[in-house]
Amino acid sequence: MNLVPEVLTSIPFGVNADGYQVRLSLFTKSGGSVTLIGGNPGQGKSSAVKIILAGCVGTNSCVIWFDPKSGADANPYKDRVEVVSDPRNPGQFLDYLVRIQELIFQRNQIISQGYDINILPRVVLFIDEWALLTALGTKQEQQLIQTEIRNLAATGRSANVSLVLATQRPTSVNIDVATRELSNNRVAFLVGDTHASEAILGQTGAESKTNPLRPGQALVWLDGQLQRTTIYEVPEQLSTWCKNAAGYKITLQDAEELGEIFSRESGINDI
Ligand SMILES: Nc1ncnc2c1ncn2[C@@H]1O[C@H](COP(=O)(O)OP(=O)(O)O)[C@@H](O)[C@H]1O
Ligand SMILES: [Mg+2]
Repeated sequence: MNLVPEVLTSIPFGVNADGYQVRLSLFTKSGGSVTLIGGNPGQGKSSAVKIILAGCVGTNSCVIWFDPKSGADANPYKDRVEVVSDPRNPGQFLDYLVRIQELIFQRNQIISQGYDINILPRVVLFIDEWALLTALGTKQEQQLIQTEIRNLAATGRSANVSLVLATQRPTSVNIDVATRELSNNRVAFLVGDTHASEAILGQTGAESKTNPLRPGQALVWLDGQLQRTTIYEVPEQLSTWCKNAAGYKITLQDAEELGEIFSRESGINDI
């Protein structure tokens, strides 16, 4: 592990059919990104999220993981990751979404004053089981959570906020076209039918029965190019890495406070 955390840019994700490494860009010169991951249960979605996490561990980034399955997947990484996981408390997910939206607003204000926000930590939000999350709580809460996630997908980029969305039941209903169109990175594991493939990738293929994707394999769409990719296996030491990198943990509250300090020091009025 390096002594100084690196800046988070792209992360190693897997190997394509030609044997080349496939990397996912979480951040580029123009800011954050949206990554959409879909596929049948047991095909490797949560594992893919962990591989992305592995690329974030040693970087100067705030990593937040919504895991509404009571943290079953995320909890081993708590030392480095802020885990939000209680399915009985949909208000907590909503509260985080609203706070991230406010952080985006704060950063946009800093940018509008001509300052560079790159000294502030990059933020990555993992939402595993997106469909499950948007089905929690009352109808009104569900609507609010859904709207907030869509807003984040639309506004996070310029504020260096990246979103990673994974969902089990990819239908054109729970992945709206606008969110898919905003996704720079699309990862489709095996799905049941062409509609599900189209909902994730914008094209068919992930449903193929002639040369079916195996667990851990996905069609990865990057900048308009589709690559059949074998995703790396989750390293057994990932939770140990997270423990060793506990000093790099940046909570949402830390990110908020850093933004406030930056705004104050540069004479931008607090809101
Ligand atoms: N990249 C991979 N390489 C090898 N096996 C994998 C890979 N991804 C997933 N698997 C296998 O599939 C199982 C289910 O993966 P998981 O990520 O939990 O699926 P999902 O979140 O889509 O339900 C894992 O426990 C593992 O055994
Ligand atoms: Mg899963």
